[in-house]
Amino acid sequence: MDKNFFWGAATSAHQVEGNNRNDWTEWEKSESRIKDLESKIQNGEFRKKLPPHLWSKWPTPADLNNYISGKACEHYNRFREDFDIAKSLGHNAHRFSIEWSRIEPEEGRFDEKEVTHYREIIKALRERGIEPFVTLWHFTLPLWVTNLGGWESSKTIFYFSRYCERMCSAFKGEVRYWMTLNEPAEWAAQAYLYDLWPPQKRNFLKNRRVYFNLLKAHKEAYTRMKTVGSNLHVGIAESMEWWEPGWTRPLIHYLRNYFFLDRISRHLDFVGLNYYQRKCIFRKPSGEVSDMGWESYPDGMYYFLLKSWRRWQKPIYITENGIANAKDDKRAKFIKDHIAAMRRAMKEGADVRGYFHWSLLDNFEWDSGFWPRFGLVEVNYKTQERKIRESAKVYQEIILNSRF
Ligand code: BGC
Repeated sequence: MDKNFFWGAATSAHQVEGNNRNDWTEWEKSESRIKDLESKIQNGEFRKKLPPHLWSKWPTPADLNNYISGKACEHYNRFREDFDIAKSLGHNAHRFSIEWSRIEPEEGRFDEKEVTHYREIIKALRERGIEPFVTLWHFTLPLWVTNLGGWESSKTIFYFSRYCERMCSAFKGEVRYWMTLNEPAEWAAQAYLYDLWPPQKRNFLKNRRVYFNLLKAHKEAYTRMKTVGSNLHVGIAESMEWWEPGWTRPLIHYLRNYFFLDRISRHLDFVGLNYYQRKCIFRKPSGEVSDMGWESYPDGMYYFLLKSWRRWQKPIYITENGIANAKDDKRAKFIKDHIAAMRRAMKEGADVRGYFHWSLLDNFEWDSGFWPRFGLVEVNYKTQERKIRESAKVYQEIILNSRF
């Protein structure tokens, strides 16, 4: 195994911890959300779209329990067991997120008990020789922040950067790698254009407002975090998608993939790249598709790695890359092909320093709920039993034999 390269998997707090209380938990239980799901289930919408093998697992897309994060993977209490698995699979790094609503449940009241909880997590990782990579916002907000307008309010910039600085001070000497935001541009689109995620507003002007507030929040947080330690590595995790047909690419790639990073590139020590799929506008996917219908396209990752390196000249980490594949018959190939694409980009000069597979565990996939299975490790949501998938062992082999 190459000691200079970080290999691991990623998770996010709301998707795995269980028993959270934030804007998502409220939205999951809201009347309008439940009504909407009930009508979709009644119309058989999910049955029409999704492959039949998904209906043998629990919970299924036609089950309302599927859409409530609830106990999730109980990772909040089972993290040691989960990190034992990561270690046994050869991982030497792990990406996770801190849940802001736990740390600061009310404006200005920082909960020391929860700080201690995340300290235990960091310690548990270090004890297993696993480097922590910490994300500070992965889509969820404390309710008091939502009540003051969430990312629509410029006050959130101040509160967020204060929380970020606070976390850097609390874990000074314990965490070196930080990400402020996860996929801000994608989140702004899902929540303010596509009407899919809370607060479910279809409003272009508001979309622009939250987008620019997120930009400012990153810069402000970066500046404050670096006052705690100039040697901290502070970056962001942003997603990139490959688009077809080719003539759409210059514009879509610029707006969708580069615009945000262009504007914050002086406030970045590294680029975190989340990469999943190719999107086609006028035709059906021609390649392998996941259970969610996402088309795998490793060449896109190769391209974005080189592009990111040339454009911003910062070290790059693949902070997410994975496939929803309940049968686990496509994941091993997905991993091999994407890692091969990464190696090609590295050979041609891209400074890539780590790869984090999404995800360590099956988890709560936002508006789709629990049915999409992204884990290297399968979770039985009735018993919370963990089962290592075959593809996880293929990834382990790659890690053990890696040389750069
Ligand atoms: C997000 C994850 C999500 C994954 C798969 C990324 O956009 O950061 O939270 O689970 O994609 O959809």
